[in-house]
Amino acid sequence: MKLTIIGSGYVGLTTGACFAEVGHHVVCVDNDERKIKSLLEGKIPIYEPGLETIVRKNVVSKRLQFTTNTEEGVDHGEVIFIAVPTPPQADGSVDLSFIEKVAREIAVCLGSYRVIVDKSTVPVKTGERVAQTIRRYAKPGVEFDVVSNPEFLREGSAVEDLMSPDRIVIGGNSDRALAVMQKVYEPFVAPVLVTDINSAELIKHAANSFLALKISYVNALSELCEVSGADVEKVAEGIGMDKRIGRSFLNAGLGYGGSCFPKDIAAFIAIADQLGTPFDLLKEVQKINARQLNRFLDSVREALWVLKDKKIAVWGLSFKPNTDDVRSSVAINLVETLVKEGAEVTAYDPKAMDKFRELPIASKVTLTDNPIEAARDAEALIVATEWPEFATVDLQELRDAMRTPLIFDGRNLLDPTAAASYGFQYRGIGRGTLAAE
Ligand code: UDX
Repeated sequence: MKLTIIGSGYVGLTTGACFAEVGHHVVCVDNDERKIKSLLEGKIPIYEPGLETIVRKNVVSKRLQFTTNTEEGVDHGEVIFIAVPTPPQADGSVDLSFIEKVAREIAVCLGSYRVIVDKSTVPVKTGERVAQTIRRYAKPGVEFDVVSNPEFLREGSAVEDLMSPDRIVIGGNSDRALAVMQKVYEPFVAPVLVTDINSAELIKHAANSFLALKISYVNALSELCEVSGADVEKVAEGIGMDKRIGRSFLNAGLGYGGSCFPKDIAAFIAIADQLGTPFDLLKEVQKINARQLNRFLDSVREALWVLKDKKIAVWGLSFKPNTDDVRSSVAINLVETLVKEGAEVTAYDPKAMDKFRELPIASKVTLTDNPIEAARDAEALIVATEWPEFATVDLQELRDAMRTPLIFDGRNLLDPTAAASYGFQYRGIGRGTLAAE
């Protein structure tokens, strides 16, 4: 099929590449000329495992093309996906101006029937507004349908998530459009759930909020474990073995970050408030998430007494492993607080240091080439992101490099007993403090 994606960011580019990979002919549109130019040269602006390979392959086979011209895109695609940003506003609600603008741009180019699909995460009832806008700006009599088809990909495993998703949600109010969408997804082996537009939009926010709720639940438990001497890892294992609960998304840590959860939970709260049905449970989820980093920082302050002029090593800057994304990363909030309180921060991240260098805080942080160098002469080490390579660092080498052997493991990545056996004082999340042997 001929498909068009408007917006070649994380979701748009990965979706476009995966559609091309399964045999569709895809045109990706973006108004950023530099981005399109570099994509045409085969340069991928993000680090995402497997993405570069499929982009290059499908560009060569001409199944994946890039342009800055919306008209060309609207002409090409029988289905037009909108995948532009939906950034948060100060009150937590979503800025839908990019969606509205693209809806108008598509409308004026429409000649014959097109299915216009909202892929971006949007509040419930956005589809209705998109349809209204297109009707208003399109030539009279032009046929089109609007569909909601939310994306559930996770950064770091986006290609895999797109190629074999748990489910595909298609929300539409017209049989004609639903039939076209079924055809788009025919090459994918995954259950398809067909709903009305509003339900599909709601599913996306509800799913992300539920996952955030699981994280905050285990983080609240971690606090209880700390004061009672229990081990949150064992508690999570014990409750997760119940199939109705499941072990995933029960990893206690510094809290959730990234470009989706914080924004989507705030947006869901805002839309529920706007619709007159406040979702107070989710407000508590946000509070627990914020408290988690504060509690952790308190334990660092408590152990070091004074942070000013202390040399602190931070391992991990991305908001989670396997991505170079530092947007709304808890690790960045942590580094900013340490710097503000006068600590001398040295940091290392396997993939995110280039993106980190673009942030204002970067000029106040020393970056190193490897984790041991970051920890050299440090008075404390903080694990902020659970990159697998940190778990295999030679503890003896680490001990020799550090000035004082203090580890604050914000992601429960290291083995506390092993750390203690090398002379470290170890403190994780929800698992008490282990003194050096
Ligand atoms: C998320 C959703 O998983 C995805 O379906 C949606 O489309 C976009 O938002 P993403 O933000 O890429 O994806 O990352 P995810 O793996 O879900 O992690 C989000 C945050 O939660 C990270 O900061 C991570 O460290 C944190 N997290 C996750 C925990 O603290 N504990 C967990 O058990 C799981």
